[in-house]
Amino acid sequence: MTTPGGAYCNRCATGKSRPITLPEVDQARKRSHGLAVVSLCFVCLGNICRSPTAEGVMRHLVREAGLEHAISVESAGTAGYHEGDPPDFRACTAGERRGIAIGGSARQFDASDWQRFDYVLAMDRTNLEDLAATAPNAEAKKKLFLLRSFDPKSPAGADVPDPYYGSEDGFELVLELCLAACKPLLEKVRREHGL
Ligand code: 4NP
Repeated sequence: MTTPGGAYCNRCATGKSRPITLPEVDQARKRSHGLAVVSLCFVCLGNICRSPTAEGVMRHLVREAGLEHAISVESAGTAGYHEGDPPDFRACTAGERRGIAIGGSARQFDASDWQRFDYVLAMDRTNLEDLAATAPNAEAKKKLFLLRSFDPKSPAGADVPDPYYGSEDGFELVLELCLAACKPLLEKVRREHGL
């Protein structure tokens, strides 16, 4: 384990000829324990519509790529009023139509999540601002992105619109937008982490 002073890690030897940095220690330690190296968290308001959809889509893509051992995917809400609830059935139906499983139970994003995750993906600009307000430091803010910013066809600053009070069509759109953004996001994660 390294220290801020720059000691070397015996257990998670990275073979570096310079003091290893804390993110490197974290990755090497996770690998040595057989844990996923890269962790993503999708975040919307209630964690019952958009972020569980994005989580299901990304898990599906990660499984297709054979990278389940290396990439972990979760989701959360900026609000806690649906804590423990399953995803909205309309989100699950949209997933089923494409063979994508959408499950889990809702939970609120909390302060410790800034440590646990490498990428925090906000579904809309309000989620992004709410998350940014809770980020403990500049390093945490660097982990924060608007999901659709990864879709090259998406206009700058575009949201995944909240489908909760609308019709089933809104859930179909959410699923398509998540697929369009998660594919290039997975490519970026693979590039950045050599996966
Ligand atoms: P989500 O959608 O943020 O995509 O999970 C919503 C779910 C619930 C509510 C609003 C949005 N609500 O007001 O209860």
